[in-house]
Parts: sequence; C-alpha cells; structure tokens
Amino acid sequence: MPAITATAPGKVILVGEHAVVYARPAIAVPVTQVQAKASVFADLHAPPGEVWIEAPAIGLKARLTQMPPSNAIVRLFDALAAELVIPRFPALRLKITSTIPIAAGLGSGAAVSVACLRALSAFVGHPLSTDRISALTFEQEKIFHGTPSGIDNTVISYAQPIYFVRDQPFELLRVALPFTLVIADTGIKSSTASAVSGVRQRWQQHTATFEDLFDQIAEIARRTRICLENGVIQDVGPLLDENHHLLQILGVSCPELDRLAAAARQAGAWGAKLCGGGLGGNLIALVDPPQAENVAAALRSAGAVRTWITQIQPQ
Ligand code: PMV
Repeated sequence: MPAITATAPGKVILVGEHAVVYARPAIAVPVTQVQAKASVFADLHAPPGEVWIEAPAIGLKARLTQMPPSNAIVRLFDALAAELVIPRFPALRLKITSTIPIAAGLGSGAAVSVACLRALSAFVGHPLSTDRISALTFEQEKIFHGTPSGIDNTVISYAQPIYFVRDQPFELLRVALPFTLVIADTGIKSSTASAVSGVRQRWQQHTATFEDLFDQIAEIARRTRICLENGVIQDVGPLLDENHHLLQILGVSCPELDRLAAAARQAGAWGAKLCGGGLGGNLIALVDPPQAENVAAALRSAGAVRTWITQIQPQ
C-alpha cells in the first residue's frame, strides 16, 4: 500500500500560447482524462536519506544519489529539501507513473513535478500550499524549458480553467456552461523550448509584425474569455480557427497539425487549433458533444495516433 499518493492533471492551452510568453493573455484548462501520479512508500529497512526512484514507463529504477545532479527528479528533491529546510528525506521509494504523453503540449513535465511535490511534502508531514507547489514547479520549468510563461505550472497546480497573464496574479475563469474538446495527438514529439526559441528569433527579426500578431492573439483570448463566461460556446469555434491561423504565421504549425485541423472542421467541429508549443504535439477541436465521437474518429483517420474527449465543467 502506498503511504501517500498524489495526482495532477494534464492541460491544454485553449488560446494564447506563444503570445503569452510576450505578456499577452492566454486561457488554459485542465485535462483530467490524463494524469501524472506520484506514490511515496516508506522504506522501514533502509537508513534515512536512502531514496529510490521508480518510473517504469522510462525504465528508471535508481537510487537518488546515483542519478546525475542535473536530472529533473534530483533537482526537484533538492528544491523541496531547501523549501522545507530538511537536511535529508526519510528512507523512501517514489514511484512515478503518467498517462500524459511526453513532449506533446499536454504539460507532462509540470504534472509530474506537481504530483511529486504534493506527495513528497505530504509524506514528510509538511504539505505545501498550491501556491508553493506552483512556484516550485515554475522553477523546474525554467531549468528545462528556458523562458516559460508560467501558465503550465499554474493551470496544473490549481486544476481549474485559468485566464493567465505573465507576471500578474492569474484569474480563475468562470465558465458558464460545460464545453467539450476533442484532443488529437499527431504522434510527433516536439520541444517547447525550440518552438519558443524559433518564435523569439523571428520576433527579433520582425519585431513590429510579431508584436502585431501577438496583439491579435491577445484579442482572441479576451473574446474567448467573454464567450466562455457568458456560455456562448459555439462562438469560440471561429476564435480557435483564427488563433490556429495566427500560430501558422508565427511558424509553429506543421503539415500534420494543419491536416488534423482541416479534418476536424470537415467532420463538424466548431473550430480547431494546435495547442501548446506546436511543431507536432496535439491539436484541440471544440465540438458539439453529440459530434465528439465522429470528430475523434475523423481525426484518427486523418493520422492522429490517439484522441481524447474531455469536458470542461463550470466550477
Ligand atoms: O508545449 P506546452 O504545453 O508546454 O506549452 C507551451 C506554451 C508556450 O506558450 C508555447 C510556452 C509558455 O511557456 O507559455
């Protein structure tokens, strides 16, 4: 029996990715169909400080002290020990599992971090607040993703829809009516860091044009928020299409994502766009709930390696 288990959901960015790095607003929602799970087991036979990490999906079973200091989990333990001001952890075994695809724009790294921080801090008797979990996860994201906006750690830690502007307190988004998304994985692994740095290079070369594109995306985020708060769900569809078009211009789409977006629209989705860093990863389609299965099937026929249907509920 695990002594302590914690989970964290995946997430999608509904609108506003990339522009959010440049202080424009974005909206993100949790995806509970996929999740990261961390279980901490006490090891009563080992001396204090003996920590074993198991992550079967990546074939990892190792003693923490034998892992490279640059490893994400090692850094997480270091950060947590500093936060809790504890010299060492009791002997324990941390098992990490996740159903969130890796490097696919669904927040797998942040979710693993949130689940581990929650489980470990509770295990040592000092459960961290959601604020601190989010802040520590942000620090992790900085190490591995360069210049993250902070949207991933926030939506995953709070597990609620958020309206997010970098360096400002985030706002919980009051969704008036449920809405349904089909998520489709291109199967192409993509690096958020390189997508973000590609946009940065192009922004440096064409600053005025890119600032204007970011402003257009910001306007989409503001209009999407109004639609969701007023329960005018169908009107969000064209906003997603428009956002996808702007992301194409930013240079972060790819033929596979464009093909999936077209297939979703053809199958009756209200709108579709890539989500997250792009250059692969996942697409989201906003659908009328009775159409969800059809759209998911059309996406698989158009090459998606897997699909999920998720419903975002009013709080
Ligand atoms: O690829 P993801 O899901 O980690 O999303 C990244 C979102 C960006 O706006 C591209 C980057 C960021 O830090 O906000």
